[in-house]
Amino acid sequence: MAKQKKSWEKRLKGKTDKLAVNFVESLSYDVRLYKYDIQGSIAHAKMLSEQKLITKSEFGQIKQGLSQIAEQIELGRFKFNKTQEDIHMAVEAALIKLIGDPGKKLHTGRSRNDQVATDIRLWMRDEIAELQAKIKKLQKAFVKLAGCYTENIMPSYTHMQRAQPVVIAAYLLSFVEQLERDIVRLGNCSRGLNVSPLGSGAVAGSTIAIDRKSTAAELGFDSVTGNSIDSVSDRDFCAEFIFDCSLLLAHLSKLAEDWIIYSTNEFSFITISDTYCTSSSMMPQKRNPDMLELIRAKTGSVYGSLMAMLTILKAQPSGYNRDLQEDKLHVFKAGDTASVCVDMAEAIVSDTKFNCSEIEAGLDEGFLDATALAEYLVGKAVPFRDAHGVVGSLVAYCEGAGKKLSDLTIDEFKKYCDNIEDDVYKSLGAVNVASSYVTEGAGSAKQSKKRINYWNRRLNKK
Ligand code: ARG
Repeated sequence: MAKQKKSWEKRLKGKTDKLAVNFVESLSYDVRLYKYDIQGSIAHAKMLSEQKLITKSEFGQIKQGLSQIAEQIELGRFKFNKTQEDIHMAVEAALIKLIGDPGKKLHTGRSRNDQVATDIRLWMRDEIAELQAKIKKLQKAFVKLAGCYTENIMPSYTHMQRAQPVVIAAYLLSFVEQLERDIVRLGNCSRGLNVSPLGSGAVAGSTIAIDRKSTAAELGFDSVTGNSIDSVSDRDFCAEFIFDCSLLLAHLSKLAEDWIIYSTNEFSFITISDTYCTSSSMMPQKRNPDMLELIRAKTGSVYGSLMAMLTILKAQPSGYNRDLQEDKLHVFKAGDTASVCVDMAEAIVSDTKFNCSEIEAGLDEGFLDATALAEYLVGKAVPFRDAHGVVGSLVAYCEGAGKKLSDLTIDEFKKYCDNIEDDVYKSLGAVNVASSYVTEGAGSAKQSKKRINYWNRRLNKK
């Protein structure tokens, strides 16, 4: 058989420059869309046969040929040729080579512009479902770890300064909430993108009576897009997806930063399993939290993808432009990075221990009970602003005297505020304070256990 030419070689004279061939191709990275491209093509061909634009037998041959190509790609036996530019052309060319003339009818009423918009949506839908499942696994790891520390107290921080005591479980559960919002956000993105652009053609639709609703239903889309120009030109859902990945990574980077600090000798709050640490080539004593550092760094690379995607979209003229080909580089990179970071975080969370006795030994530092003392005074009819001032003075006094608030005698207290009585000691000390929170969602054992139950029910529900 003579070397098959691209159909537009009839239009353009001379061979495409070698540098240009390598420059314009996307096959090297859009090959990962092959399953979706073939799924979309089979749906399109089925519709063509329903519309009597091809015969049933031609559809049969196309379907069989495409399935065979999918298998070859899967097995790594498919010969890719960069001159075919992208996965869409590669598959179509292979189909024509395999089944001859019926293959030439596949592209009826279709363009690569609506094809690629369809493929990315199909890919992203699956990618999001996979990512959501991984995030859920990470949530479960947090809830499990929280279950081990419902009674143990740690300081909470604001401005990285000691703030108020909480149970360790409450700290861990804070990540479960953040991750839940990541799941919801990704779900919103998935629902938003789930409309079929297929049948929008190159930009204006087609004069051939194809049935867009049929391909949409076949591919599991909720409906069809409403405007062909918009369908081939927008990638807002790509930016949205990368934004969702960015926030997910922002949450993971918070965990990474916390735990890098918590695992220092200075803090010694946690011990990350050796399996997730590295050592130094020179300093034999080192146990470095490199995985967490890399999660922190990879967050930056996902933000970079977001900026790249937004900039690709900026001031792009309406209709399809080749600029859009680069969307895939960034959605793939962001999706892959998010996915591997969630896996890594899950592994680390599942294998980390809190050094409760060490944390406990340091709980006297930092006046963790100061706010609770001010709130105690509110209960004794002191306006909060005044109570805040009283406790501020008490803390300054204690600091000078090298004392804790709970070391003070009633007489010492009375010098600052007459309303302080014998029962004050129940409101002092980190352990007492952490058990006195009464508000919904607070950092006490009681509230945390309630939330653990909630999450266990929710996360184990199908
Ligand atoms: N590889 C292209 C992309 O990823 C496919 C569409 C190209 N269409 C065109 N008319 N040049 O966006």
